Amino acid sequence: MKILVLNGPNLNLLGSREVDLYGSASYADLVAHCRAEGEKAGVDVEVRQTNHEGVLVDWIQESKDVFDAVVLNAAAYTHTSLAIYDAIKAVRARVAEVHLTDPMEREDFRRFSYVALAAERTFSGMGFGSYTAAIRHFAGKDS
Ligand code: DQA
Repeated sequence: MKILVLNGPNLNLLGSREVDLYGSASYADLVAHCRAEGEKAGVDVEVRQTNHEGVLVDWIQESKDVFDAVVLNAAAYTHTSLAIYDAIKAVRARVAEVHLTDPMEREDFRRFSYVALAAERTFSGMGFGSYTAAIRHFAGKDS
């Protein structure tokens, strides 16, 4: 199984960005974490990050026939991007939505998620553990 992990805007700044919310581990640490969890679960994991909405749309489209599933932290685009919702539906991608924090416990404007409308599962509020849970979900290792 091949899993594509996609990260949206500002996640490249993990470790220096709002550390009280997102923690002091870096984006490189997140990439290493996802790769290690993939190895443990026996699946191939590729991890990417972009600050650009259209690039996320391109990568979701391109995931068709190459990856079996997408773990998607669309960051702020979660709450705004109809284009990302459409891309997931257009290629019928299997998507798990992930967030480091729990957006439902934060500002009101984070309570709506376009991604959730197209995703089969959402894992949030567990830090890097949200990615672990999503990778294990696709690997069939849900506990
Ligand atoms: C986030 C939550 C979003 O609301 C926010 O815009 C982010 C990060 C998270 O991982 O907790 O950039 O997706």
